[in-house]
Amino acid sequence: MTENISKTIKDIDKERLPVHIGIIMDGNGRWAKKQGLPRHLGHQEGMRKVVQIVEACNELGIKNLTLYAFSTENWKRPSVEVEALMNLLVVFVRKELRRLNENNVKIMILGDISKLPDLPMREVERAVGITSSNTGMTLNIALNYGGRQEVTMAIKDILRDVNKGNINIDEIDEKLISDYLYTKGQPDPDLIIRPSGELRLSNFLIYQAAYSEFWFSDVLWPDFKADHLYNAIVEYQKRNRRFGGV
Ligand code: IPE
Ligand code: IPE
Ligand code: MG
Repeated sequence: MTENISKTIKDIDKERLPVHIGIIMDGNGRWAKKQGLPRHLGHQEGMRKVVQIVEACNELGIKNLTLYAFSTENWKRPSVEVEALMNLLVVFVRKELRRLNENNVKIMILGDISKLPDLPMREVERAVGITSSNTGMTLNIALNYGGRQEVTMAIKDILRDVNKGNINIDEIDEKLISDYLYTKGQPDPDLIIRPSGELRLSNFLIYQAAYSEFWFSDVLWPDFKADHLYNAIVEYQKRNRRFGGV
């Protein structure tokens, strides 16, 4: 699976870009271990890649980018690591918000941030608030996000609306369910990228990924470069998406 990243931005057909790209940013810990560094430095390096890849997507004209930053299962990690990740979130907002805003990026959160410690929660809410009327790329940060949690939340909210008489059971269809997810109003991911050699979704966008194309690579997230992104998009453009048809 170690591909040579021979593709460049010139190989991409700008007329057939994936509208929505999802990235499972994985491999920070293994990257740090390989360098003999503590895990939090892997996360720090991973954050630098976030900045580069967001810019690359924005320049390319990607409309929706979803980055998996922290899963509902990641709370199982040692508390020092969770704290380091939460702290990096604060650093990220403080360092990058101004530039993201200047680039017309609209930041949205997928996940239940009410469970985050106070400071990261407030900083993230600030980023969402400041960029809320931007009209460029939508950057979804999946934070305390789990696909099963999201579907559970949607079911509860739908039932509440049924009980209130706001919707009728017969009105429940796939479109209505989509409207109760964090990604309401956004297209499903066309392309999901997962570095680090793991071949699984790890609870990422499980409802929305029904017809996504996948691109896996052994590269660890802190080593991920714009060329990997371009490679993934070129590969995506060669696929024949049938959606069950012929
Ligand atoms: C991804 O890197 C970052 C988060 C899950 C927050 P990991 O920390 O999972 O790195 P590995 O998988 O241990 O290498
Ligand atoms: C998925 O990575 C979550 C994020 C990248 C935020 P994990 O490292 O948590 O996934 P598993 O545990 O290998 O499935
Ligand atoms: Mg991992």
